[in-house]
Amino acid sequence: MTITFNKDLTALNTFRMGVSAAAYAEYNSVDELKEILENRELPGPMLPVGGGSNLLFTGDFTGTVLHSCIKGLILKRDNNGISVQVGAGENWDQFCLWAATEGLWGPENLSLIPGEVGAAAVQNIGAYGVEVKDIISGVDVLDTLDHTTGTIDVEECGYGYRESHFKGDWKGRFIVTSVTFRLTDGYAPRLDYGHVREAMQKAYGDKPLIPLMIRDEIIRIRRTKLPAVEELGSAGSFFKNPYVTQEEYEDIADIYPEVPHFPLPDGRVKIPAAWLIEKAGLKGYVKGNAAVYAKQPLVIVNHTGKASPREILSLERKIIRTVKSRFGITLSPEVEHI
Ligand code: EPU
Repeated sequence: MTITFNKDLTALNTFRMGVSAAAYAEYNSVDELKEILENRELPGPMLPVGGGSNLLFTGDFTGTVLHSCIKGLILKRDNNGISVQVGAGENWDQFCLWAATEGLWGPENLSLIPGEVGAAAVQNIGAYGVEVKDIISGVDVLDTLDHTTGTIDVEECGYGYRESHFKGDWKGRFIVTSVTFRLTDGYAPRLDYGHVREAMQKAYGDKPLIPLMIRDEIIRIRRTKLPAVEELGSAGSFFKNPYVTQEEYEDIADIYPEVPHFPLPDGRVKIPAAWLIEKAGLKGYVKGNAAVYAKQPLVIVNHTGKASPREILSLERKIIRTVKSRFGITLSPEVEHI
């Protein structure tokens, strides 16, 4: 266990902003986590973070940042199939690499998403037609009310598009300590998103696929669109793709018949926020030290490495205002504001 007071968080948020926390505590086990929660010297509130890849610190944090270093991977093969329990502090992409190398299908489409396993389950990360909820069977948690531990079945987690009870109704209550995934060694490529099938066909023709092939292709696609957090501070997609009514969609399509749109089972229509931001004229827009990423306008970047929270927030407001006045659609951030 490590406890540090007045901790610089630059390396702990992928926006790479120079903010600090009054205290920072890292734990290697559930018992250490309990000790930390019982430590009266640590200021509240307590904020669990993973890789800090989906957070926007709006200023210095006056409580304690908690960081799981719970590691480990326990693989089980039985009559129910293949499951693997992974520590919340494992790096997400390392887990994807491990599964693909073992020839196990499940997380390959989610390769190269920054962050850690615990946060992936809180945020319900998703990419290329897969959401992490699709491969989770249960989430192990510590209840901060009474410090008991338990497992929450995937059906109970309230998962939706970048949503879960952990970040909604239960916010602050449970700390994820490990996550159990269902994987399979039976042929299960998922190619239906965008150009993935076409890209795989181009790269491999009609050859049977293995998870590593999909992983490699997904990594290649992501690298062409998204900034590497080691090179340019960002938190991935800053906004959610809005779900609009059929009428709202038609209003836009009357003016822009080419608007990309994806009908949803509930009758609503998903419109890419990237398209709305681009059409609103903000792709590549620079405001002080912050910018709209030129290759993918859904991403706000720390353009010079010196952006302050205030500058990122100001650019966020400008994007929301401009898209709203142009299309009547209010974008909502997917990045959590702290
Ligand atoms: N588009 C534009 N202009 C651009 C880029 C994209 O108009 O410059 C439009 C195109 O019509 C394109 C559409 O946006 O077809 C969708 O683009 P893309 O497939 O790249 O994905 P996205 O909707 O922008 C979502 C996720 C990403 C995830 C990708 C791939 C959200 C908020 N974002 O982005 O997730 O990697 O799909 O599945 O749902 C993240 O959450 O941090 C993240 C990067």
